[in-house]
Amino acid sequence: MNKIPYETILDIRKKANIVDVIAKYIPLEKRGKNYFAICPFHDDHNPSMSVSEEKQIYTCFVCGASGNVFNFVMNYENISFTAAVKKVADLVGIKLDVKDTEVKKNKEDKYHNYYKMFDIVNKYYKNNIKSVYGKKAIKYLNERKITDDIINEFEIGLSLNDNSISKLLQEKGYSKDELVDIGICGDSNNYMYDTFRNRIMFPLYNLDGQVVGFSGRIYNGENESKYVNSKESVIFKKGNLLYNYHRAIKEAREKRSIIVVEGFMDVIRLYSVGIKNVVASMGTAITKEHASLIKHLSQNVILSFDGDKAGEKATISAIKELEKIGISPKIIRLEDDLDPDDYIVKKGKDAYLNHLNNALSVIDFNLMVKKENTNFNDFNEVSSFVSEAVKELEKITDPVVYELTLNEIAKQTNLDKETINNMVAKKPDKNTFIIDKRKKTKKDKYQKAEEYLVHYMLKDPKAILIYQDKVSYLENKKLSIIAMEILEFYEKKGYINVTDFTLFLEDKTDLINEVLRIDEEDLPDHVSDDVLLEYVKTIDEEILKNEINKVKDKIKTETNVQNKIELLEKLRVLKKKECK
Ligand code: UTP
Ligand code: MN
Repeated sequence: MNKIPYETILDIRKKANIVDVIAKYIPLEKRGKNYFAICPFHDDHNPSMSVSEEKQIYTCFVCGASGNVFNFVMNYENISFTAAVKKVADLVGIKLDVKDTEVKKNKEDKYHNYYKMFDIVNKYYKNNIKSVYGKKAIKYLNERKITDDIINEFEIGLSLNDNSISKLLQEKGYSKDELVDIGICGDSNNYMYDTFRNRIMFPLYNLDGQVVGFSGRIYNGENESKYVNSKESVIFKKGNLLYNYHRAIKEAREKRSIIVVEGFMDVIRLYSVGIKNVVASMGTAITKEHASLIKHLSQNVILSFDGDKAGEKATISAIKELEKIGISPKIIRLEDDLDPDDYIVKKGKDAYLNHLNNALSVIDFNLMVKKENTNFNDFNEVSSFVSEAVKELEKITDPVVYELTLNEIAKQTNLDKETINNMVAKKPDKNTFIIDKRKKTKKDKYQKAEEYLVHYMLKDPKAILIYQDKVSYLENKKLSIIAMEILEFYEKKGYINVTDFTLFLEDKTDLINEVLRIDEEDLPDHVSDDVLLEYVKTIDEEILKNEINKVKDKIKTETNVQNKIELLEKLRVLKKKECK
């Protein structure tokens, strides 16, 4: 990848005020010197993110998200660092020269032909549905209450009952192999035929909104499978994308929640009644990749799968996948086995909104599923229901929720509240309170010495030179990497300041968060050589102590006499050093 030069990035950074850029995404409120906002990177309820105009840095004091203007755009829009730099450059009217703008294309180039082909096919299908051949398809869609506006917006098209796509693409110079690779055509003894015949076509998009596949639906009462999807290719993996992701990203951030449904008709229905923070898994089970994409959209996830048994099963497995990455979703269960699309058509938007506003917690959902599967006239079944319910109670951390859930279970089973309560081993602490995730952990003298030395390296060349001269490495790996990066930055640029250093780290969000945390340490602005050398001494002592321990461990397990003698000699030398 062609990198944008640091100097160009710095130039853009100087022209773009972080406050103005962030304000384009989220509302900012001025308080004193700084600006504050609801943090878009975690489930925030009070403004926890501060934006410093002076430092040109944002920091969330709850989740620890932090960085410069490019990091914000990159993380908010889920785009690459380079793409974020380009975006900010555009905002401040800096034109990156041709070489720079080619940067992003590089990766795409390899598959450039595939995207082009999908684009041609998409245009063709869209055209068909508006032609005389499309009358029946349009009628079908309109009968399903899908308006012409929605057809346009979702680029719904039509494949014809012939091999016109194969012909068209070959006329444009694409090879048979390419046609087959993307699954638009098949090859039968060198006879090229179209995969999709006489179906209503839904383009499927990647995360950037480029068409990478299609799904075609029957509409004429044909006796064939309802949907046919293009086969997976290098640019299309069903398990790695969510339908409507590129449209939902902004809505989800604004509404601070994301609804996950099964089918694209569900997405289209919700969208057309104005509920636009919605994505679909397209009928497959939620994968690990799906879960992390969903998390990126919002921490507040509402699962709204079909109302039937299959939908219930899919919900259970989606909950598992989401819980693995720390998300406890809310759940909607629609009555009469309906999917969200049919539900809204039959019962109206308000009925659906009512479900949305009263979505179940995971615990309530689990209890509901268990209730459905229990015959309450059978004492054995009641007994196993109670032990399952007790397991759910043990997961509850909020005392009020605990009490309410306990009441429910008692009512359901006709058992005494105390009886159930006594079965619960782990009850919520009445004094639970929310702990700042960035709370200061107690650090020992040695950890402090490492952190403080790095703190001063971020502002004072004197500390960098001392590190370079006298320290070989730090025990804390992350700090060690940061120190190395600072050395490199200083060597190349000849100066140091925190904000510019974060530019140099580009998309290494993890390191940037740590750098900004250490920069915040409450230490005097100026530091003497003596203090710095004292840190170095502490660091040396600890490294030596660790080395001695390592050698001691080796001696214990070494069986070869010659090796043992060498190790003992090494230990003697180290101990001598320690006494100095
Ligand atoms: P559904 O069978 O629930 O379809 O499959 P649907 O969304 O209600 O569609 P309509 O309302 O009948 O038109 C849910 C999703 O599973 C995928 C599709 O992505 C669909 O949206 N699916 C379903 C397939 O890929 N192939 C199929 O044959 C069926
Ligand atoms: Mn449906």
